[in-house]
Amino acid sequence: MTDTHTTHDALEDPRNADIKIYVNGDLVHRDDAKVSVYDSGFMLGDGMWEGLRLYDGQWAFFEEHMDRFFNSCKSVSLDVGMDEAAILEALSATAAANGMTTDVHCRLMLTRGVKVKPFQHPSLSQSGPTLVIIMEHSKPVNSLQSAGIRLATVPQVRGLPMSQDAKYNSHSKLNCVIACLQAEQAGADEGLMLDPHGFVNTTNACNFFIVRRGEVWTSTGDYCMNGVTRQKVIDLCKADGIPVLEKNYSLYEAYGADEAFLTGTFGAQTPVAMIDGKPIGTSDRPIMTRIQTLYKRAIADYVAAKSG
Ligand SMILES: Cc1ncc(COP(=O)(O)O)c(C=O)c1O
Repeated sequence: MTDTHTTHDALEDPRNADIKIYVNGDLVHRDDAKVSVYDSGFMLGDGMWEGLRLYDGQWAFFEEHMDRFFNSCKSVSLDVGMDEAAILEALSATAAANGMTTDVHCRLMLTRGVKVKPFQHPSLSQSGPTLVIIMEHSKPVNSLQSAGIRLATVPQVRGLPMSQDAKYNSHSKLNCVIACLQAEQAGADEGLMLDPHGFVNTTNACNFFIVRRGEVWTSTGDYCMNGVTRQKVIDLCKADGIPVLEKNYSLYEAYGADEAFLTGTFGAQTPVAMIDGKPIGTSDRPIMTRIQTLYKRAIADYVAAKSG
């Protein structure tokens, strides 16, 4: 069996065995952090979440994450029950309870809450939402930067927005999980997903970019997660004079790319070594490396501005 990587491979950190989890205002040891089997998140995947990272005491690009989170919740009539400032307070309390200040990954999850009967109708959730915050000490493994990720194109596609819009960061990620399983069964680490027209779209857990002849390309954005990191990369390229295009392109152009990389809050930019068994470029990745430098600087600037 080949050595499998995921884009979320993190260094082992024994401190994570004793973290405290935020559950509806309480901070409890991870072994005691529980939600009801009647919770709509457990029963139906009826909830929204955000992945955030803490750098030197600041949640990077907090405003963009909250914009997406509140927009998603509003779109499915999920009343957050608190404002952005209260969410930030809950994050700060969780970080403080764990003595965490940097290199921390957070999964902030809100579901429609506990149901009075085990059925689908949202009105059965009558006691308010469930808010859970998991924070772990987390550093992406360095080996991913040299080895890169292996992608396999999968049969599972990103759907049209009138089925389950890919912009919902919903608890239910079954579409993505199926894609990930298909990639794993094809001997790859992550699934490269096409859109309903057959154009290259995104992976099951990250946004996808290629570099061709000095230009950075990514999908139009119509069928993928509106990734905070994706948008940062586009903005940073524009500001630094790197040609960047959001366009339709096919596997033909992806296979022939000089570089390819994934973006996401956890791994920032992760190189792609192979697509469908075809090597992509060389281990020299000058444009991605330049973008990584710009991204690190953007985070440092953000942290400095927030720290006053
Ligand atoms: C399917 C999918 N694509 C991309 C991303 C990356 O988004 P971001 O850059 O906001 O972390 C995520 C993260 O939640 C995701 O679930």
